Amino acid sequence: MKIISDIQELRDHLRGQNRASFVPTMGNLHEGHLSLMRLARQHGDPVVASIFVNRLQFGPNEDFDSYPRTMQADIDKLEKEGVYILFAPTERDLYPQPQEYRVDPPQQLGDILEGEFRPGFFKGVCTVVLKLLSCVQPQVAVFGKKDYQQLMIIRQMAKQFALPVDIVPGETIRAEDGLALSSRNSYLSSAERTEAPELQKVLKEARARVLDLSERNDHALNEIEKVAISTLTRRGWNPDYIAIRQQSDLARPSNESLQTGEGLVILTAAKLGKTRLIDNLEI
Ligand code: PAF
Repeated sequence: MKIISDIQELRDHLRGQNRASFVPTMGNLHEGHLSLMRLARQHGDPVVASIFVNRLQFGPNEDFDSYPRTMQADIDKLEKEGVYILFAPTERDLYPQPQEYRVDPPQQLGDILEGEFRPGFFKGVCTVVLKLLSCVQPQVAVFGKKDYQQLMIIRQMAKQFALPVDIVPGETIRAEDGLALSSRNSYLSSAERTEAPELQKVLKEARARVLDLSERNDHALNEIEKVAISTLTRRGWNPDYIAIRQQSDLARPSNESLQTGEGLVILTAAKLGKTRLIDNLEI
């Protein structure tokens, strides 16, 4: 595997490759990321991965400094997966000048759910993803469904800018007890790690309640959200949101759209101790 930090060198290596597939990451790779590498291989060749902890998407009180950086272990894992190039720019490589041009997603997608609790997060994500896509110029880029809202926002960005890339979603990979794999799971104490799978259990219960409804309407969905929030709160969690939304645009479903059988997804973010976990389940 070639490890490249310089944008020009990356372009030189990829010249003439018009079927590359790309998996951007912030490192601290786990089985979830590796499943995305395998999916990328099915969609293009060569596979390019990136590792870059993107300061622009962290708020002032978030974990940019303490975000786990495990470069050598990540390199070993990517080599085993047969990744062709690891693009691992420094901040100076990727942002040689202050990044004054930014991509601002529309409020109705970027300022809800994660965007409400992490202001500016999706602006930082879109800006770095557009830049990484411009550096790698892949035919396909893979993003995990664990970050459901991120995937949707990047899809819309690619569509609205007519970027010549297919955005491919990868399924969430879970530990045996149901906890969605995430780099931030490493922040959990052992007692918290034992409690953490409750997040998915609560989503599953909420999904079962939605499926059991004789008639779906916004009042019934609100009640299901409230029960899920109070279950987590009683167990000592501090939920930011549990929200049942339309899969197509993450808007709150209206009574009319519920009658048309619109696909739904239930999304959550909740703190367990100091660790903020996110998860979602399609209904
Ligand atoms: O999902 C992530 O790891 C990051 O948000 C991404 C897409 C690599 C952008 O920094």
